[in-house]
Amino acid sequence: MTVFKLLLLPGDGIGPEITAEAAKVIAFLGEAGVAKFETQTGLVGGAAYDVHGVAISESDMELAQECDAVLLAAVGGPKWDGVPYDLRPEAGLLRLRKDLGLFANLRPAICYPALAEASSLKRELVDGLDIMIVRELTGGVYFGEPKEIIDLGNGQKRGVDTQVYDTYEIERIGRVAFDLARKRNNKVTSSEKANVMKSGLLWREVITALHKREYPDVQLEHMLADALGMQLVRWPKQFDVIVTDNLFGDMLSDVASMLTGSLGMLPSASLGAADANGKRKAMYEPAHGSAPDIAGKGIANPIAMIGSLGMALRYSFDLPKAADAVEAAIAAVLAQGLRTPDIKGSAAATVSTGQMGDAIVKELAEILK
Ligand code: IPM
Ligand code: MG
Repeated sequence: MTVFKLLLLPGDGIGPEITAEAAKVIAFLGEAGVAKFETQTGLVGGAAYDVHGVAISESDMELAQECDAVLLAAVGGPKWDGVPYDLRPEAGLLRLRKDLGLFANLRPAICYPALAEASSLKRELVDGLDIMIVRELTGGVYFGEPKEIIDLGNGQKRGVDTQVYDTYEIERIGRVAFDLARKRNNKVTSSEKANVMKSGLLWREVITALHKREYPDVQLEHMLADALGMQLVRWPKQFDVIVTDNLFGDMLSDVASMLTGSLGMLPSASLGAADANGKRKAMYEPAHGSAPDIAGKGIANPIAMIGSLGMALRYSFDLPKAADAVEAAIAAVLAQGLRTPDIKGSAAATVSTGQMGDAIVKELAEILK
């Protein structure tokens, strides 16, 4: 059996707690003979800064380059508020994305029927929702230069960020979206601010040309990013695949997560380009943050983290059945009424992070029997 090399980066806040639950699933899959994993654990974010003085060490970067997939939990927290900008926890995450070339961030927002009432929207708007946000992850305003604060010398300063996209960056993320749409409901909504931004104008031109040239069979619509934010909370089921830039994707995926009941539900996959053997560098992480306010209390929701492992089974390890089983196990525990506090809704009681993880492993064992 192939041995898959997995690097675990628990990071900060609730990161270690939810990673422990994903580790239970990994251990179970090994014992059940579904897949063999060799895991290593590294440091990222504030946890790395405290030990190495940087947000990720060179040796952990090497491990990330060599493994088949990285499973990262979350970074950041008020403890590191005073840390120099280049060493802040988020810098570790951004370096991983950039250096591994993970340009395609897939954020599926699925509303499990059992959770429809935990959403802030009415049940009929979100019940059965299944959309995929494809966020460009290595370009745009996150990485564009210049990026600086200049002293203007007159008592004023100027903060500058640069939003920049080249044709090839838009084309390759567009292809990811169109390819995914073909396997889903065949519709792509491309989003930017072409009405005020040159990069948005180019984005629209390139996506339109790509569609015409290579994907005329897929339905394409363009929607300005502000309007898309509005439509996401008005009538989210109109969407299938949404493709957008790094910053709009960051915001819109947080909005979408609340449609599913909680930010604690949204997994993500960050993928690089396929090499000659069809292999892609990959990192899997929940879309939520490190939630320092609830860290160490055993109440964090591990579902986005376990769902991220499920995405690794699908996109890195070519184990679609095991991935389906993980998703089915999550759906099953939710249908049984198990709830962490973030998705409590009108439930009578809640379970801990560990109980949720155990219940998912138990269901997984049933499903794979
Ligand atoms: C995300 C996060 C990150 C981002 C932060 C932690 C840098 O919000 O993955 O959505 O902005 O990309
Ligand atoms: Mg975000």
